[in-house]
Amino acid sequence: MKIAIGSDHGGFELKELVKPLLGELGHEVDDVGCYSLESVDYPLEAKKVVSLVRDGKADRGILICGTGIGMSIAANRTPGIRATLCHGLFTAEMSRRHNDSNILCMGGRVTGPGLAMEMVKVWLATPFEGGRHSRRLCQIDSEEQECS
Ligand code: RB5
Repeated sequence: MKIAIGSDHGGFELKELVKPLLGELGHEVDDVGCYSLESVDYPLEAKKVVSLVRDGKADRGILICGTGIGMSIAANRTPGIRATLCHGLFTAEMSRRHNDSNILCMGGRVTGPGLAMEMVKVWLATPFEGGRHSRRLCQIDSEEQECS
């Protein structure tokens, strides 16, 4: 898959650790920044990854800020983006199975690197279950009667 990854300064160090893992797993990585610990604004970094996923230029995205909260709020403003803030293996797995997550958000000041790596592996490998969950995702952006 092609994976777009972005962070602010609070997520920069974790982004730098996750990036090589994506390559090792056989994915193509598009790092949109930031590129240092210098302070930057997370909404602007989120928009870069969101655009790539929304436009089909990346299959999935990963966004990391200090807590993951700002990134998830910013990314979820765009229809079709399902950015899920995850804190462990269960949320990483369920965000794929039930929510068809297309952007994984993590907190670089919350989640340690070892756990984050395992979360990324699970999130990338877990399929969407479809069925009733497809109807529920449809209901997020549509009128209820349009979703079956
Ligand atoms: C930056 O200090 C911090 O606010 C940001 O990384 C993030 O945690 C916002 O939600």
